[in-house]
Amino acid sequence: MRVGRDIRNLTLIGFMGSGKTSVGRLVAAQLGFEFLDTDDMIAAEVGMSIPEIFRREGEAGFRQLERQIVRKLEDRCQTVISTGGGLPTYDDHLERLKRHSLVVCLWASAETLYQRVRHHDHRPLLQTPDPLGRIRQLLAQREPWYRQADVLVQTEQRSIREVAGHVVHAFRAYVHLPD
Ligand code: S3P
Repeated sequence: MRVGRDIRNLTLIGFMGSGKTSVGRLVAAQLGFEFLDTDDMIAAEVGMSIPEIFRREGEAGFRQLERQIVRKLEDRCQTVISTGGGLPTYDDHLERLKRHSLVVCLWASAETLYQRVRHHDHRPLLQTPDPLGRIRQLLAQREPWYRQADVLVQTEQRSIREVAGHVVHAFRAYVHLPD
């Protein structure tokens, strides 16, 4: 699917707790790229936190904001983009991201993701009596999109630094940059 692609950026996709933001920051520093996080862009644009957007506009309102951000990203260059966990699974978002980015998915099992997010309360979709069940259900629904990434990086039993190293290596190999 390289036809029609102009790879100038690196986009990280993956479930909540997969490490996109921490890994993305390190990868950006190593590549000398700018770092952007779609949740931060949305929050800055509307002047509300993500939980507040979900409360006031519902999930549908949040997804609409993600649609606008996906379009805004199209003229970026030399940027590492960390996306919200659901973003690549809606509309044509993944296809649009692939036009300008190498898309890398960070992967972990539902149980590992749960261990990583269980003490956080800023993710509205996981504020439920059975967050692990919710993670399993959403991960199963989203897996077909996540698997369409150009590169899938396993994060289980690996430090953020190790995962970032794999991502940088994949990017350099793909765009033919020397290590
Ligand atoms: C969401 C993931 C969150 C944020 C929002 C919805 C999702 O981002 O976009 O709470 O649908 O998986 P992170 O993946 O950065 O936690």
